[in-house]
Amino acid sequence: MASTDSGLHGERGGSQLPGNGAADDDLALDRRQLVRAAQLAAIERLAASLAHDLRNPLAVVRNTVYVIKRKLAKGETTQALEYLDLIDRELSTTDRMIRELVAMTRGEAPRRQPVELDELLAAARDRLPAGLRIQWTREGPGLTLHLDRDQFVQVFGNLFLNAAQAMGGEGGTISVRSRAGDEADEIRVIDTGPGIAPELAEQVFEPLFTSRKSGAGLGLTICRQIVERHGGTISVEPNAPGAVLCIRLPRAPFE
Ligand SMILES: Nc1ncnc2c1ncn2[C@@H]1O[C@H](COP(=O)(O)OP(=O)(O)OP(=O)(O)O)[C@@H](O)[C@H]1O
Ligand SMILES: [Mg+2]
Repeated sequence: MASTDSGLHGERGGSQLPGNGAADDDLALDRRQLVRAAQLAAIERLAASLAHDLRNPLAVVRNTVYVIKRKLAKGETTQALEYLDLIDRELSTTDRMIRELVAMTRGEAPRRQPVELDELLAAARDRLPAGLRIQWTREGPGLTLHLDRDQFVQVFGNLFLNAAQAMGGEGGTISVRSRAGDEADEIRVIDTGPGIAPELAEQVFEPLFTSRKSGAGLGLTICRQIVERHGGTISVEPNAPGAVLCIRLPRAPFE
């Protein structure tokens, strides 16, 4: 970027344009180039993480097809059928990922339905990578929420994944605490990782903000988008030592 900048300034400096106009044009051009470079880098990161996430289920499908062929050759149809279920599950995962990406770019309107909080949490937990050494605790009442189930499975999935990543390979505890208020329900996701510094409490929701090498910096942005589309809020609360993410959802008028 630096060499392009100096080249541009040199060229313009040689022209006869007086005053600040040319300098302003240069600045605007530089800024557009910087923004474009940042956008391209963001798209590259997103494509890389998507390619990585899609490769796993596809590899499982390929291996499973191989196993099924062998089972069928030996006449073991019942086992072959079980393996087909595995393929079905993996295809659902890839399908969901693609739908999420599309939903994120389109910002789909919520399709609300009554959903039990605990069912939602279980579905979000199911989508975490296998083999994580996490303890789970659950406090507070079970709530019936009126929201877009798929979108909130994504919200809690993102929060759980962030917590798991923050706690690292050592394992740790994720607690979900619910509270039924008069006007709004509150759900807190608390972990025992290093936490989020108070000065980053807002920044973490900005698109492309990430401290992780392979992070796209979109997880919390998507969470906020979805929660706000439901008329709610999501924020980081101070805590020591772990992170606390609090979702507040207004009670629907018909409840
Ligand atoms: N539970 C948490 N504990 C500590 N830091 C967190 C936690 N959740 C989020 N963060 C911080 O906020 C940043 C942004 O999170 P976000 O989910 O938006 O993006 P990401 O996890 O980096 O990438 P991805 O797009 O893959 O989710 C993280 O990189 C991390 O620095
Ligand atoms: Mg994330």
